[in-house]
Amino acid sequence: MDKSKIRDIKLSHSGNLQIEWASKHMPVLNLIQKRFTREKPLKGFTLGACLHVTKETGVLIETFLSGGAKVGLCGSNPLSTQDDVAAALAKKGANVYAWRGQNTEEYYWCVEKVLDLKPSITLDDGADLVSTLHNRRKEALSKIKGGTEETTTGVLRLRAMEKDRALKYPIIAVNDAYTKYLFDNRYGTGQSTLDGIVRATNILFAGKNLVVSGYGWCGKGVAMRAQGMGANVIVTEVNPLRALEASMNGFRVMTIMEASEIGDIFITVTGDTSVIRREHMEKMKDGTIMANSGHFNVEIDQKGLSEICVKKRNIRPNLDEYTLKNGRKLYLLAEGRLVNLAAAEGHPSEVMDMSFANQALCVEHIAKNKKLEFKVYGVPKQIDEQIASLKLASMNIKIDILTREQKSYLTSWETGTI
Ligand SMILES: NC(=O)c1ccc[n+]([C@@H]2O[C@H](COP(=O)([O-])OP(=O)(O)OC[C@H]3O[C@@H](n4cnc5c(N)ncnc54)[C@H](O)[C@@H]3O)[C@@H](O)[C@H]2O)c1
Repeated sequence: MDKSKIRDIKLSHSGNLQIEWASKHMPVLNLIQKRFTREKPLKGFTLGACLHVTKETGVLIETFLSGGAKVGLCGSNPLSTQDDVAAALAKKGANVYAWRGQNTEEYYWCVEKVLDLKPSITLDDGADLVSTLHNRRKEALSKIKGGTEETTTGVLRLRAMEKDRALKYPIIAVNDAYTKYLFDNRYGTGQSTLDGIVRATNILFAGKNLVVSGYGWCGKGVAMRAQGMGANVIVTEVNPLRALEASMNGFRVMTIMEASEIGDIFITVTGDTSVIRREHMEKMKDGTIMANSGHFNVEIDQKGLSEICVKKRNIRPNLDEYTLKNGRKLYLLAEGRLVNLAAAEGHPSEVMDMSFANQALCVEHIAKNKKLEFKVYGVPKQIDEQIASLKLASMNIKIDILTREQKSYLTSWETGTI
């Protein structure tokens, strides 16, 4: 505990209650935690984690501590740390370097503190830990056996490192498990992004033109949930297949320039940079709200916004008003950072149950496996399927089992039209 740097240790009681509440909705991770407590598969390992410090991450860190690991934790976004959870984890014995509202220098100081612990396995959400290791802390690389990556943007960065032969240890792309992206990215981001916007603004979605930029797994979830709340959803895309899919799912598809003139609310979820730029903001209606739910705060061009703005006011937490030279007022939520984590609590525990079950089992896989190369691996299929089965069982859902005849039919080629 004395090795941690957090907001206030006195918040630990509240943090414990939050972690307990999350844990009640994370049955799969609970089962893994029970087994880890018995088997101690992580004894002797130091884990270095750069993850959003939420109540669900609290349950994951408890799981690692139960498994015998020493844990260092920093936040993966300057605005997403839940200070009470950070305090509770510090008290439980993790080395926590995280508080809400960091500047960039403080953020990377925390990343470096985790690396000072000389981790043997890393867990990342956005690849900041991995890139710091490869750029500034090369001396710590030799101690590392492997790592995991939680999100799409991190996996993209790691695959680029792999392509350049710059990656110096194996990573498992947790994001790419079916039991991760089909649920966390889609239903988790879908619900929690709207939750963040509501908490920051308390606006009504019904009847509004809501523009979703990026129709990937997150964008599909946001568009689906916003439509369910009565918004007229418009999608902007750069990928023709995804644009076509959005169109056939019943959404209007157009360019961001066309959408700029009619949108009431804009949500970026692309993982790309400068999706909404100055020339788009200049066309926007008075009162337009902009939020980002992609990993980094680069999707809405804030430099461009400040260039065309004559006055900026904070209206309430996570809601800033920009008065433009043309007299119109635009509203930016959570400084353009992940709105679901900065203005709300991130994904609901039920989906993080599966994402973090993947994290726990992949960390165990790395701990036990000697022969991984310096590559980005997918999550082993048996881990993905095991998590899906356990989740279904926890929801009391039974499914059919293939008969012997069906198994043989599905694996043969002789039988056709009868
Ligand atoms: N908010 C959260 O809690 C959360 C959760 C999971 C993932 N993420 C992040 O959200 C982002 C998207 O993740 P995903 O899994 O949906 O990725 P994805 O690759 O499935 O989808 C991204 C989509 O954005 C599109 N796109 C790229 N540039 C664009 C542009 N300029 N204009 C319009 N569309 C564009 C791509 O064609 C693609 O269809 C990533 O940064 C990811 O790390 C956030």
